[in-house]
Amino acid sequence: MRTKLIFGNWKMNKTIAEAKAFATEAVAFDKFAKEHGVDIGVAPTFMSLAAVKEIAPELTVAAQNCHFADHGAFTGEVAIPMLKEVGIDWCIIGHSERRTYNGETNETCNKKIHALIDNDMTVIYCCGETLEQFEKGLTKEVINTQIREGLAGCCKCCLKHVVVAYEPIWSIGTGKNASTEIAEDICSYIRSIIKDMAGEEASENIRILYGGSVKPENIRAYLGQPDVDGALVGGASLKVESFKQLIENIL
Ligand code: 13P
Repeated sequence: MRTKLIFGNWKMNKTIAEAKAFATEAVAFDKFAKEHGVDIGVAPTFMSLAAVKEIAPELTVAAQNCHFADHGAFTGEVAIPMLKEVGIDWCIIGHSERRTYNGETNETCNKKIHALIDNDMTVIYCCGETLEQFEKGLTKEVINTQIREGLAGCCKCCLKHVVVAYEPIWSIGTGKNASTEIAEDICSYIRSIIKDMAGEEASENIRILYGGSVKPENIRAYLGQPDVDGALVGGASLKVESFKQLIENIL
């Protein structure tokens, strides 16, 4: 039985003060979610990670990126030991915005994923196709490559530390969310690739999230799909009220 997971990706939003205000309220609704068998988490900017973790130590808090090297001459980057030092043990890897604006590739994602797993961290690995690829019917081809290359070398033990998020790029921040049929079709396809790569047990245990214009009004329909184990939420995760509604609406 896979525990449902609702994760807020704050992207480049919230000052430290705003993140602290959210974290203060999150203590109570994280407890509420856990009592109802739902896992939740947030991914603030690097700036706010320590503050959020300090205020809400039980809340799952993820970085939005990391470097694969432990230290070195990589200006502007943040290393995994630095995240661990402030209590962070989750990290999002391969978000489409990083692939588009920061040159992230399946190969760099793979290096980061292995470095994170070696450091006992949990990874949310994102995949998803562009509108053009979707319209050309290339979605499964794109996803297949992203999963096989991004997760190359991950055995079934490694995959215990991995969550996959399917986020069609055309649905991110556009209000044009993928239908529940598309979300289920691709999430179950991802599960079948994992089965092929690492066996049935790994594929049955891995959590696969849908992301892209998830809102309190539509989250229930996505999480009602057999292969959709949760949601990675951008805009609707920013306000405390809206985040709470995301949880309440799936109970
Ligand atoms: P929106 O929920 O704002 O569409 O963003 C989705 C996303 O990119 C989460 O990582």
